[in-house]
Amino acid sequence: MSATPPARARATTLTRNQTAARAAYVLAGNDRGRLTVAAPQLYPHMWSWDAAFIAIGLARVSTGRALTELETLLGAQWRTGMVPHIVFTEGETGYEPGPQRWACGRVCPDAPQSPATSGLIQPPVHGVAVRRILDAARGASAAERHDAVERIRAMWPRLLAWHRYLADRRDPEGRGLLTIYHGWESGLDDSPRWDAPYADVVPAPEFVPFRRADLHALGALGGAAAQRPSDAEYVKYQWLVEELRRARYDDATACRTLSFRMADVLTSALFVAANEELATVADELGLPGVDELIGYADRFRRGVLETADDHGFAADVDLRTGAVIRTPTIAGFAPLLSGGLDPARQQALVETLTSADWCGHPGFAHALPPSTSPSSPAFDPVRYWRGPQWPPVTWLLIWGLERSGEQETARALREAALDQLADGLFAEYYHPFTGEPLGARPQSWTAAVALDLLA
Ligand code: SER
Repeated sequence: MSATPPARARATTLTRNQTAARAAYVLAGNDRGRLTVAAPQLYPHMWSWDAAFIAIGLARVSTGRALTELETLLGAQWRTGMVPHIVFTEGETGYEPGPQRWACGRVCPDAPQSPATSGLIQPPVHGVAVRRILDAARGASAAERHDAVERIRAMWPRLLAWHRYLADRRDPEGRGLLTIYHGWESGLDDSPRWDAPYADVVPAPEFVPFRRADLHALGALGGAAAQRPSDAEYVKYQWLVEELRRARYDDATACRTLSFRMADVLTSALFVAANEELATVADELGLPGVDELIGYADRFRRGVLETADDHGFAADVDLRTGAVIRTPTIAGFAPLLSGGLDPARQQALVETLTSADWCGHPGFAHALPPSTSPSSPAFDPVRYWRGPQWPPVTWLLIWGLERSGEQETARALREAALDQLADGLFAEYYHPFTGEPLGARPQSWTAAVALDLLA
């Protein structure tokens, strides 16, 4: 799909102050007390990596409220240290698969009985949020800073347990790449990077797919079916949940038996970054685990870089077949988040990112990273992770570029991101060519990254 539709004029362009005010208003509206729902209609619960981005945004308003978000998430941690990808809000039935289908507390002794959770993970960006909260607390009152430090100390054992879970159970062979059991775990559900492995995910003939609540929830906004993963994909997503439930969410079993087992390079790179950030927090606050965290960062950075080609572009690995899966998706830029590329390959990777195959496509409304390259045959400008631009991914790349010393590119992305967000709609994702808002809106993590970028 390579046709370039004309850019559409948008209804509103807010000033930066107006955008920030509206973003704070959105987060307040989605606040349910101790958690912020990811998006009221489509995602009426807490999602793990959404919560981390939400905390990053909330830190600009109140470090205390930002910490509450992480405390709620970590309060749902499993005995293994796993932090679940969904924490369900009680009494909310508008999302499928809901708690009954996951049945985690019923089939797995490691899962909490309350709150109900899913049995998967999402990218571990929480350490990045903790670092940002501590930084934001520096500019706050002495009392707020003291409170933030004490609360980070209190959650420290849970943060360490989370990272230990990932390093031990999701990389049992020590290759420096995290194993995922479901595209949902990558956060990039239907990215073309998973097309080949999903071809081998075949539901049992007797499996009866359940109703897709997502299309119903988005229905009011129009165009829902074209903007969400397809039905054929959704059956596989549901079937993998069934496989996991049958494995009683046991990692040793899942690592051997699941029909989807991928070494996810982007999640691994984010793990590197989170380990490094938490190591600096530990160092600053005199908390245990500095060497352990640095050790994880080194191990996973090596793992990420081993997959990079001559231009620094990274790849996933299918652990069932050993196949290296190098697709023109945003995950290829993982080394900009893990760091560690030699200067020549870093330069090549930044050039790729700004080229016409990516942010620099002349038809784009905003020069921002698309989730899939528009030059890929799999590119679809409206469908979820198959083309649209996602603000939190933009945020991550800006952050990674700044850490990698690529200030000029980071600045350009930041300006483009602020232009995109000035529509004040805080959509889940955006059409790269028309700039049209897509998916759920308002989406909390979009408002959150807007607040942070504007601060
Ligand atoms: N992103 C998933 C969904 O669309 C869940 O993690 O429901």
